[in-house]
Amino acid sequence: MNPFLFTNIGSLVRAHPSGGQGDLGVIADAAMAVERGRIAWVGTSRAVPHEYETWDRVDLQQKMVVPGLIDCHTHLAFGGWRADEFEQRLLGVSYQEIARAGGGILSTVRATRGASADELLARAERVLCEMSTLGVTTVECKSGYGLDLESEIKTLKVYASLAQRSPLTLVPTFLGAHTVPLEYRERREEYLSLVVDRMLPEVVERNLARFCDVFVEGVAFTREEGRRVLTAAQKLGLRAKIHADQMSDGGGALLASELGAVSADHLEYISPEGRDAMARAGVVAVALPFATLYTRGIPLRARELVAAGVRVAVATDFNPGTAPSFHLPFAINLACTLYGLTPSEAVKGATYYAACALGMQDEIGSLEPGKSADFAIIDAPDVNHWVYYLRANSCIATFKNGKKIYSTEPFDGVSDS
Ligand code: NIG
Ligand code: FE
Repeated sequence: MNPFLFTNIGSLVRAHPSGGQGDLGVIADAAMAVERGRIAWVGTSRAVPHEYETWDRVDLQQKMVVPGLIDCHTHLAFGGWRADEFEQRLLGVSYQEIARAGGGILSTVRATRGASADELLARAERVLCEMSTLGVTTVECKSGYGLDLESEIKTLKVYASLAQRSPLTLVPTFLGAHTVPLEYRERREEYLSLVVDRMLPEVVERNLARFCDVFVEGVAFTREEGRRVLTAAQKLGLRAKIHADQMSDGGGALLASELGAVSADHLEYISPEGRDAMARAGVVAVALPFATLYTRGIPLRARELVAAGVRVAVATDFNPGTAPSFHLPFAINLACTLYGLTPSEAVKGATYYAACALGMQDEIGSLEPGKSADFAIIDAPDVNHWVYYLRANSCIATFKNGKKIYSTEPFDGVSDS
């Protein structure tokens, strides 16, 4: 593919590493050069170096360019749905009550165990395809609805196959400690041993995950149990993530800080000590506003996290229980309307800080020379307007490694493959 130069970009959102949560390093009236799948240069239209003058050009007619969005927390592959529980919760039954009665995660475990790998793959592939139309280029994806060796491996192998087939980058996470499955309900120690002694080694041996996650919560695992699983995972080379302090303060943020986890996610009930410990340890907070919305929980105090110096990422948490939507731009809007982030802060959370939450900030998440040419073209004059005007989809093209993987209109000079 020829190298090419985008010109007449209204706002180029670099989402550069410096400047903190609200600093996106926006360049107005910008240009961007792309070569061999990487960003070669960005700057103002007036300052395009001579060497790029002869490259194929694409006039973006003042559209906005943002880094490819990164959904750094999803439960992408699962069987069935749980619309019935959605209704029950609206009628006043709590998430925890449904879980204790054998619904919730366990209901999706039954459906996921019963689904074939092909069924899981076909459904997840459709989701990835739709995500790409929203400007998403990288997706973290967790297991955790199998909860036995065979079904956890099945899910992670589906992700490995999808990574081969999909133009998007998939980042797999092992979440064997999502909850205690029904058959181990009276034998949770045995289930933890299964996770630590059988599942983890096999997942690592087959190179099926980059991260290990644990749900630390009253309806799932204690802080000590989480420590046991994550310490074992770290010894095997996986990095730690935690579903932390979502429905109660279970000390998840403190555990994440103690273990040097790459992220702690949810955090609606985080304690001041947990918050300060995360700031000191450099753990990224992942804000998941769909889960707050669907569980009608208290909002994350995102402003306090930012003020304390914690980097806040934003993701969908796509799953059939608490977050049945993969619409990351909508989650960005909710990070503002529910959590009080500014649009710039929320967009940094779904780009550069989301890359940080995956340990991939040297490769993706910002539009800087040398980084992957993952970006989306947005039909909006600026970040504020994009996030504020909540339409079905403002994304008019998505590029992955410099290749166009989605567009609503032809872009002259840029081939599909
Ligand atoms: O991130 N909190 C734990 N896990 C999911 C919900 C899983 C489910 O209800 O199926 C979450 O919200
Ligand atoms: Fe989750």
